[in-house]
Amino acid sequence: MSDPTRPQSPKIIAVANQKGGVGKTTTTINLAAALVELGMRVLVVDLDPQGNASTGLGVEPDQRDRTTYDLIMGDVDLAEIIQLCHTEGLYVTPATIDLSSADIEMVANEKRSFLLHDALRQHAIDGYALDYILIDCPPSLSLLTVNAMVAADSVLVPLQSEFFALEGLSQLMLTVREVRQTANPTLRIEGVVLTMYDQRNNLSRQVEQDARDNLQDLVFETVIPRNVRISEAPSYALSVLDYDTNSKGSQAYRALAVELLSKRS
Ligand SMILES: Nc1ncnc2c1ncn2[C@@H]1O[C@H](COP(=O)(O)OP(=O)(O)O)[C@@H](O)[C@H]1O
Ligand SMILES: [Mg+2]
Repeated sequence: MSDPTRPQSPKIIAVANQKGGVGKTTTTINLAAALVELGMRVLVVDLDPQGNASTGLGVEPDQRDRTTYDLIMGDVDLAEIIQLCHTEGLYVTPATIDLSSADIEMVANEKRSFLLHDALRQHAIDGYALDYILIDCPPSLSLLTVNAMVAADSVLVPLQSEFFALEGLSQLMLTVREVRQTANPTLRIEGVVLTMYDQRNNLSRQVEQDARDNLQDLVFETVIPRNVRISEAPSYALSVLDYDTNSKGSQAYRALAVELLSKRS
């Protein structure tokens, strides 16, 4: 409790980018694991109907009776939804394809943008003594992603080190601005993290330069390299930190966690 890096109530970070395949899920899982290594208690909310974060964290499809869908709809006991992962201190609310219908069902609800916000602020959450909640968003700017941004303190944006990476970012920033103006005035950009970075590739270096020129301090100093161990880990239902603890990928996600904590004041 005396540790100043420990938030009082869980700090909620939406990991978002409407492009698919840019490293949202990979960053969610491995940043969560790195924060847990540092002694934090972390909940991953899988908000993507594809359920990749759930799979990567070891929740088999037949263990997904209660999911993020139930969390949002709010009629199931939290203890039935939140699952402990293999690692102590790491929890997940798993997702299934059901979530894609939630997106539609929510529209009729007048509190539609606040459903996740309210779910994550119910008293039963306190019992988990969480430090961080990371929300793995779907690859769209749908109502699910808006729910994540309304629920969150900040948005962390993975940016793939590829051509056109910066395109689409303005649309994402526009959505953040809209959420700020309407439902969540204190929403911050936690930062932009370059993923799948290849140091030997001119294009990667160019994307990094463009991102730093345009977004300055918003870009994390830590860059996540393209690393085969990162892509192998989920098929063993492990974070890369547990799969190959000394890999470049593990080191990078540890550095990202340290940088994230150091940015908090
Ligand atoms: N740093 C990395 N090095 C190698 N492969 C990566 C890296 N980050 C992500 N990948 C791979 O790229 C693919 C897309 O990543 P993912 O995190 O699922 O993206 P998103 O959640 O944004 O759709 C996955 O197959 C993942 O294993
Ligand atoms: Mg994903």
